[in-house]
Amino acid sequence: MTSRRSFIRGVSAVALAMKAGPLVFSWPPPAPQSGAIEMDGEDGLLIRSFRFVDLESPVEYFRTWLTPIPHFFVRNHMHEPSQLSAADWRLSIGGEVEKPLTLTAADLAKLEMHSVVNTLECAGNGRGFQRPQVPGIQWGKGAVGTAEFSGPRLRDVLERAGVSSSGKQVAFRGLDEVPGKVPPFIRSIPIEKALDPDTLVATHMNGAPLTKHHGFPARALTPGWIGAASCKWLTEIRVLDSEFAGNFMNPGYRLPNQPIMPGETVKPEDTHPVTSLAVKSVISGPPDGATLKPGGVVIAGAAWAGEAGITKVEISTDGGATWTLANFGQERARYAWRLWHHEWNAKPGDHSIRSRATDSQGRVQPATAVWNPSGYLYNAIDEVKVHVA
Ligand code: MTE
Repeated sequence: MTSRRSFIRGVSAVALAMKAGPLVFSWPPPAPQSGAIEMDGEDGLLIRSFRFVDLESPVEYFRTWLTPIPHFFVRNHMHEPSQLSAADWRLSIGGEVEKPLTLTAADLAKLEMHSVVNTLECAGNGRGFQRPQVPGIQWGKGAVGTAEFSGPRLRDVLERAGVSSSGKQVAFRGLDEVPGKVPPFIRSIPIEKALDPDTLVATHMNGAPLTKHHGFPARALTPGWIGAASCKWLTEIRVLDSEFAGNFMNPGYRLPNQPIMPGETVKPEDTHPVTSLAVKSVISGPPDGATLKPGGVVIAGAAWAGEAGITKVEISTDGGATWTLANFGQERARYAWRLWHHEWNAKPGDHSIRSRATDSQGRVQPATAVWNPSGYLYNAIDEVKVHVA
C-alpha cells in the first residue's frame, strides 16, 4: 500500500515541477524500440510500410507541443521524388484563372510569410484498431504530429493568377514518382478553404525549410483537415469548376453519408469527401503495459479536433466508471492540439486509464469509433493498461 506521506511527496514533487516549468514524467523517455527505423533525419519512428516511406511516431513522443521534425510521422502513397532542386523547381498555377503563371522558389519567397501551428493527422490514423479490420496501412496512434507551418498564403498565390468566377475547387498535384499504373496524387479542396487566410503554400516546418519527407520545397497546408489535403512536393495548383475526379478524391478519402454495417456496399453518390478531423485524445504516458510504482503518477497526452477547439479532456483511472477533468498545458493555437495532464495517486493493482475529449462543437470522443470501409477518422476513447506494484 502507498503511504499517504509518499503519495503527498510524489504529488508535491509533480506540482512543484509544474509550477517551476516542464512536467516531470513518471516514465522514462522513449527508448529506441524494436521496429524503429534508422533513416537520415528520422529518429525512432516505427515502420508501417516498407513499400513506400510510411513512418509512425511512438505516442511517447507527444510530450512537446511542437513535434520535432525527426519525430514527425511520414505518410507517402508512392515514391518520393528522386530529383528535387530548389533552383529547378517550378510551381504552375492554372485552370479557371485569368492569368496562368509559373513561380520559382525565389518568387514564392518574395510573398508575405504567414505561420500556422497545425496538428496534421492522417485520415487513416488508428485504422489498425477498427473492428472488423479494414484494408490499408494498419496505423496505430501515431500518424499525427503538430508543427508550425510557414509560407505564403495560398490566397496570395491565387490572387496573382486571378481566380475566375467559375473557380469552385483548387487541386494540388505533387511530384511523387508514380509506380506502374497508380494514378498521380492529385486532390482538390473547395475554393472557400483555399482562400482561407490560414491555408498556405508552406515552405517551412518549425522554422526550418521542409525536409524531403515532408514535401520540400513546398507543400499545401490545409489546416484542421486530414493530412491528405496537404499535398507535398507541390508542382501544380489548378483552379477547377468542380471537385477533382481522380482516385484520391473518389473512391479514395470518402465517408458514407450514413454509417453502414461491415459488408454493406455504399453508392459513390451516398458518400462525401473527408475534410476536417474528428475530436480525439491520446494518452502519451504512462505507456501501455507499464509497471509503475504506487504514488503520484502524471498521466499525460494530447487532444485535437481539426477545425474545432478542445473544450475539455476527462481522465478515468477505473476503466471508465468515473471521470475527472485533466489540466491543459499553456500552449494553444486554433488548429493545434492541446497537451493535457492529470495527477493520479496510483494504488497497487491493475488499472485501465482512459482519456475522452470534448470539442467546441459539442462532439465527444465516443467509446467506439464509427466503422467505415476505409477506417478513416478512428477516434475511440483512448486506453492504456498499467500495473501498479
Ligand atoms: N502529398 C503527396 N504529394 N503525396 C502523398 O502521398 N500523402 C498525404 C499528404 N500529402 C501525400 C501527400 C497524406 S495521406 C498525409 S497524412 C500527409 O501528406 C502526411 O504528411 P507528412 O508525411 O509530412 O507527415
